[in-house]
Amino acid sequence: MPDDSTANKKSNADIRQSRRNERQSLAGHVQRRHSQLLCRNTVTQKAYRNARHIALYIASDGEIDPSALIEHARFMGKKLYLPVLAPLNDSLYFAPFESNSQLILNRYNIPEPRCHPSSWKTARQLDLLLVPLVAFDAHGNRIGMGGGFYDRSLAYLRNRMLWKKPTLIGLAHELQKVEQLNMQSWDIPLDCIITEERCYCTG
Ligand SMILES: Nc1ncnc2c1ncn2[C@@H]1O[C@H](COP(=O)(O)OP(=O)(O)OP(=O)(O)O)[C@@H](O)[C@H]1O
Ligand SMILES: [Mg+2]
Repeated sequence: MPDDSTANKKSNADIRQSRRNERQSLAGHVQRRHSQLLCRNTVTQKAYRNARHIALYIASDGEIDPSALIEHARFMGKKLYLPVLAPLNDSLYFAPFESNSQLILNRYNIPEPRCHPSSWKTARQLDLLLVPLVAFDAHGNRIGMGGGFYDRSLAYLRNRMLWKKPTLIGLAHELQKVEQLNMQSWDIPLDCIITEERCYCTG
C-alpha cells in the first residue's frame, strides 16, 4: 500500500501529462517572447559566460525555445552541439551544430546533425549542458519525457565530488515548475534551472 506522502503526491505520469499540455498550448508570440527572455536570463550566468563547448537542443513539443540563445552563443564564438542518440546503448552523444549543419530526424523525430560519430563528444567533454525538461522543482530536480536518456548519459555525475563537468542547466517555461518532484535513485539533479522569469540555482 502506498504511504501517505506517496498517495498525496501527484505521480510523475500525471505531472508529465499536464505540463506537456500546458506548454503545447502556448501561443507562438508567447513562445517567441519566452525565447528572448530565456536568452537574456542565461547570458548573464557565469556558467554560460565561461563555457566554450555548450550542448543544447532544438525545441519540440512546446519546449522553451533556445534559438535566441543559439544566435547569441554563435555571435560570441562558442562551439555548439546537439544531442544524438547512440544506436546501441540508448545514451546521448553530442554532435557539432554549426549554422550550416545538415539535420536529420532520429527515431523520435528529433533533428540531429548529420556527421560522422568520430566528431561526437561525450557529456564530460562539454562545459555546459542545457537540457530540456517537462517539469522541475526549485531544488534542481527534473523529469523529462520518460526515456531516461539524460539520466543514463549523466550517470557518472552521481559522484560529483570527483567530476563536475559539465554544468547542468535546465531550460523551462515558468509554468513547468512544481512544488516538489518525486525523484528516483537514477535521476541526476540540475545545478540550475532558467525560465523566462528567473534562475533557480541550487549551488
Ligand atoms: N543510469 C541509468 N541506468 C539504467 N537505466 C536508467 C538510468 N537512468 C534512467 N534509467 C531508466 O530510464 C527510465 C526512465 O527514467 P526517467 O523516468 O527518470 O526518465 P526522464 O528523466 O524523464 O528522462 P530523460 O533523462 O531522458 O529526460 C527509468 O525507468 C530507468 O529504468
Ligand atoms: Mg529522470
